[in-house]
Amino acid sequence: MAVIGIMDSGVGGLSVFREAVKLLPHERFIYYADNANCPYGDKSAAFICERARAITELLISKGAQVVVVACNTATAAAISTLRAEYDIPFIGMEPAVKPAALGTETGVIGVLATAGTLKGSRYLETKGHYQDDVKIVEHVGRGFVELVESGDLHSENTFRTVEESIRPLLDAGADRIVLGCTHYPFLREVIEKIAGPQVQVIDPAPAVAKHLLEVIGEKGIELGNSIGENEFMASGTDAVLKKMI
Ligand code: DGL
Repeated sequence: MAVIGIMDSGVGGLSVFREAVKLLPHERFIYYADNANCPYGDKSAAFICERARAITELLISKGAQVVVVACNTATAAAISTLRAEYDIPFIGMEPAVKPAALGTETGVIGVLATAGTLKGSRYLETKGHYQDDVKIVEHVGRGFVELVESGDLHSENTFRTVEESIRPLLDAGADRIVLGCTHYPFLREVIEKIAGPQVQVIDPAPAVAKHLLEVIGEKGIELGNSIGENEFMASGTDAVLKKMI
């Protein structure tokens, strides 16, 4: 049975876990929500890197053979360090600019992410590949992480908060909205309601789950054959985490 570690600043990484468990139902997942330090979005890269190290060590001590950094912000801040320092494979997250750029009909794509992700070198590099062909409009999903962490996914206030951040993307003509933070898929219904049917919302979680499956195969990690027993941990309170699994 494979042991798969997943980390995020909170419940956002569950959007990746949900896809991964569909493809790998017989493995053991160990999920760590660093919600005592959430949000990561505007914290320094050095701080996030330290947290990612500490969480990786905990996950490895519990047997993790592969770790999914199910957080775009932590991937931007820490994945090269983790790959250099630990001898296991790491799967990271990156805003799905490519499928959006290839699919857009208006020539405008919107990217919603945290400030940390938008200024990260990985994202800037990807953006550099496509920005001559399509217009890329970015916006921080202001307040989104806090809403998701409090389990407030459908209220009037949630609708207003989401609208404030996606309106500029829609006004710029975007017909693709890339969810560049793993918390945002929990707001997908509201985003789609505001954006309308002509806008496609892109969540990279299914592609990341597929990639995880491939990496497990490439590394020859043995798969299980009975239902895996998963574990969910949090550095703060785990009430919302337990509700959203
Ligand atoms: N879920 C995270 C991400 O994908 C982190 C959000 C945050 O803590 O600000 O970026």
